[in-house]
Order: sequence, then C-alpha cells, then structure tokens
Amino acid sequence: MIIDSHAHLEDEAFVEGVYAVMERARAAGVEIVINPGADVRSSRVAAENAAVHEGLYAMAGIHPHDAAGVGDGDLEEISRILSMPRVVGIGEIGLDYYRDLSPRDEQIRVFRAQLELAKEFGCPVQIHSRDAHRDTFEILKEYADDVPAIVLHCYSGSPEMAAELIELGFFISLGGPVTYRNARKSVEVAKSVPLERLLVETDSPYLPPSPYRGERNEPAYVVEVVRKIAEIRGVSTEEVARVTAANTMRIFSISPEG
Ligand code: NI
Repeated sequence: MIIDSHAHLEDEAFVEGVYAVMERARAAGVEIVINPGADVRSSRVAAENAAVHEGLYAMAGIHPHDAAGVGDGDLEEISRILSMPRVVGIGEIGLDYYRDLSPRDEQIRVFRAQLELAKEFGCPVQIHSRDAHRDTFEILKEYADDVPAIVLHCYSGSPEMAAELIELGFFISLGGPVTYRNARKSVEVAKSVPLERLLVETDSPYLPPSPYRGERNEPAYVVEVVRKIAEIRGVSTEEVARVTAANTMRIFSISPEG
C-alpha cells in the first residue's frame, strides 16, 4: 500500500471531482490520501470530502500565505473542524518568507497559535517552510516535546539540517522534487534519513514528479516518488511503500480498516 501524505484535492484544478481522482489513485496502488487545509474554507471542504470518500483523510490548518488578519473566530473554526471524523491533524502550517504573502509577524503569530492548538488537541502537524527554515525550526523546537508528531512537508532543506531535525524526533516528507534532475540536496536527504522517519507525498496539484513535469499533479503520481527513493536507497519500491505507509498511519492514527 502507498500513502500520499499531502494532496490538495479540494483545489479547483481537480475539475473532474474527488471521486475520479481517488479512483485513479487506487488503481495505481495509492489507497490512502491525506488532504491538508490552507484556510478555514479549504479545511472544511477537505473534512467534508474525507467524510464521504473511502481512503481520504483531512487536516485543518491555516497556511502562512493566509495568515494576515486571522482572528480568534478562525482558530475556533479550525478547532471545530479538528473534531470532525477523519480529520487527523493540523496542517499545513508554518512560515513562508519566499513569497511573503502575509507579514512575517502575522505568519509567526498564526503559526504559534496553531501549534498551541496541536498541543491542546494532542494532534500531529504538517509543516510548510520556505526560505524560513531558521525561524520555523526555532519555533518548532519549543514544541518538540508537546506535539505528538511534527512532519516537515515537502522538505527542501539540506541533509545536515535534516539530520538535526531527525535528532529532534521530527519526520521528513519528500515529494516530486526528489525526482528532478537537479535535485542534489533532496537526493542526499532521501539517502540519509532513516526510512522510519520518511513519508511520501505529491502536494497535488503542485510539484509533479519528473515524468509529469508541467502537468497537473495528482495522488496516483506519488508512485514515482516512491520509485525514485527506492532507487536512491537501493531497496525495493515495496519496502519504501510499506515503511512510509506504516509511518504515516502511525503518526496520524489511521487504521487499515479506515
Ligand atoms: Ni501543500
């Protein structure tokens, strides 16, 4: 079994609907998909979809791009969505200093508020960090002991930093970029991180793996990420699929029966 630990199926790019996307995923051996939210609206849609689609789970969270102006009402709404069935954690949350779509102090405020929620609810988190690794990791260190699991989604940092994060007990999730020709850093990360700490994802509809570059990404394509990691590590694709799926199910308390 393969799990795509991060895909935005509520995105308008999926005009054909979630059912068709999940069908193609299953046909490719991808039986479970986790759909994080990016704001209150997308978190709610993800939770509603998860409630009716076999193999689909949701997360609730406010992305750093959308942090500006987030108030207590929004955070209460996120808590409410978190209590819905098949909502398995908080994400995606973090800091993005590359696009800086929200002021940095606002990003930090909303990031911290959601880590407090994770602490309160005892739930795992998926982290987005772009050009903001230092601030992101300083804040995460404060929560390392209080949040059950911290996953660095679509990790783009150095192998040295990955080693530090592993030391702190964090998990690393790799997506399409590991398949790119110039992916030297990601290849080193895929090689050096213990398999027990790795997850795989697509970040659909973004970042398609190499044979599909330029197209819309979708969960079925996570197979290419698994294949590439297996090739880099010199193990079978079955082993990468099995261990990353087991990691994901353990972190997000997903049982095989659904
Ligand atoms: Ni994402």
